[in-house]
Amino acid sequence: MYFYGTTGVNKNGHLEIGGVDAVELATKFGTPLYVYDVALIRERARAFKQAFIEQNIKFQVAYASKAFSTVAMVQLAEEEELSLDVVSGGELYTAIAAGFPPEKIHFHGNNKSREELEMALDSRIGCIVVDNFYEIGLLKEICHEKNVNVNILLRITPGIEAHTHDYILTGQEDSKFGFDLQNGQAEQALAEVLTFHQFNVLGLHCHIGSQIFETTGFLLAAQKIVEKMADWNHKFSFEAQVLNLGGGFGIRYTKEDEPIQPSQYVSEIIKEVKKLTEQYQLSMPEIWIEPGRSMVGDAGITLYHTGSSKDVPGVRKYLAVDGGMSDNIRPSLYQAKYEAVYANRPLAQSEETVSIAGKCCESGDMLIWDLPLPQSAEEDILAVFCTGAYGYSMANNYNRIPRPAVVFVENGQATLVVKRETYEDLVKLDLPLK
Ligand code: LLP
Repeated sequence: MYFYGTTGVNKNGHLEIGGVDAVELATKFGTPLYVYDVALIRERARAFKQAFIEQNIKFQVAYASKAFSTVAMVQLAEEEELSLDVVSGGELYTAIAAGFPPEKIHFHGNNKSREELEMALDSRIGCIVVDNFYEIGLLKEICHEKNVNVNILLRITPGIEAHTHDYILTGQEDSKFGFDLQNGQAEQALAEVLTFHQFNVLGLHCHIGSQIFETTGFLLAAQKIVEKMADWNHKFSFEAQVLNLGGGFGIRYTKEDEPIQPSQYVSEIIKEVKKLTEQYQLSMPEIWIEPGRSMVGDAGITLYHTGSSKDVPGVRKYLAVDGGMSDNIRPSLYQAKYEAVYANRPLAQSEETVSIAGKCCESGDMLIWDLPLPQSAEEDILAVFCTGAYGYSMANNYNRIPRPAVVFVENGQATLVVKRETYEDLVKLDLPLK
């Protein structure tokens, strides 16, 4: 069994995380329960930053809060001196409520509303990643009305889409995000934003995909963009101070996944951008990145109590847990794969193969297919690994199942950072018929 971060087995033979017994966590806080290994999040944040520091270049590592956004998580990002990427008024509100320094917040999104943009300007956030022509118009209007200036990055679609080991080079990318590089829209957008005096155009942004295991896609994107930067330097005397290459760094969900280290992504990206900018005689921009999954993914586990089981002779055994697609929709949505153990006996020999079902009223609500486990028993606690990214953040109330609590563990201490939703919470916004 491979344990992540500070997970291990304690003297009771139980799974331990952050120095805390997982069985005790399940008993104390109930299940399903999201548990985060804070030391591992800190380690990831420091590894990304360190890789830049070693290369001695200006940078920002912005945590992509869409992966897991709560007040405590944002505060942890601040403690680790990260910047923050938000994509909605809700994520921005969370950041502000957490007291995050607004000048380190970057706001993304392909359809930011007037209200959201106003909120961002009123909060004096660090920069807006402008995505489309509609937004340019809207933002101009708001800057004019409020008589404020704003830092912006232009989101470019460089025609590269990367996923795990595959990357696709397309002439003109079919994407809802950003300004296309090939068809001239990026250049048209740049020409427009450069002439509006209330915009301070810091530079360019791209994001090529998620759960990427290689650097090839990032390097190709950098090549395409820096080549264009040279062009735009001649045409508009525009020199990008910032090149943001987005997030997407892959993590290890199962034995089959073999991601590279944060330091390797960063050092190869820097090397390439240095080479290209020298080649085109441009000054080296600040490099910004936006890791989400790789910051929190393997730091999170979810604890469940097992319940009913069903044998389909000759086919499979289903074992149900007290959560499912309501707390982790990734297996149903993306056929995402996870590994799991019984927290009450993680080292016990596997004796049967079971498929872990959720409790939602939906056949597709399966968490793990064909998982080798010891013979199931009553009161087993299943710990599913690597649920820290896009688990809580995509949790939902299907079947009116309350969303689980979130606990942070570090140095033997467990801290509740999100309370479990109650049935009262579920009807809190409902109004009676009459
Ligand atoms: N920056 C931008 C502009 C993004 O769109 C994303 C993710 C990130 C950064 C962070 O990417 P990460 O480092 O987390 O891969 N719900 C999906 C993932 C969607 C990612 C969307 N954009 C999942 O559960 O796999």
